[in-house]
Amino acid sequence: MGNGHDTLFMAECVGKTGLVYAFDIQAQAIEATKARLTDTPFEQRVQLIFDGHQNLALYLPKGITIKAAIFNLGYLPKSDKSIITLPNTTKKALDALLERLEPKGRVVLVAYYGHEGGEAELSTVRHYCEQLPQERYNVLNYQFINQKNQPPILFCIEKK
Ligand SMILES: C[S@@+](CC[C@H](N)C(=O)[O-])C[C@H]1O[C@@H](n2cnc3c(N)ncnc32)[C@H](O)[C@@H]1O
Repeated sequence: MGNGHDTLFMAECVGKTGLVYAFDIQAQAIEATKARLTDTPFEQRVQLIFDGHQNLALYLPKGITIKAAIFNLGYLPKSDKSIITLPNTTKKALDALLERLEPKGRVVLVAYYGHEGGEAELSTVRHYCEQLPQERYNVLNYQFINQKNQPPILFCIEKK
């Protein structure tokens, strides 16, 4: 969730019959996202879940598959920089998600690595993506090459 920008974007994309499951471990992020969705036509299309994304299997009904997911890793902007997404839980979330991803479904991960702990997470995500078998997944890496200060790096995983 963070400040809810991606959640709102996803809610716009899923249409009237779609549903977005949004996760965060900070109450502040839930509140910010709730506020961003309030009085929009998209409120009803979102479930705000106060828990880590690594537990997503607990919240998705059996048989539900996923068309798309966004991970915006790192810390909540303008907040406590020590509360960050972590390599191990991000990996668990990816494992759970890929099990449910539909063919042609996509996962986008944006990795920030300027903060303490960011390099370790970037390395885990890169390794995770690199070892996915090409027979089952297309994996793309997209990044700024002329920016200062550790610009974010994007990974996209598409199930074949
Ligand atoms: C970079 S922010 C996300 C920004 C957000 N996408 C936006 O649109 O504003 C990263 C968020 O991940 C949250 N976070 C940290 N660990 C998490 C976990 N295990 N599961 C879900 N969210 C987590 C943080 O609390 C923080 O709000």
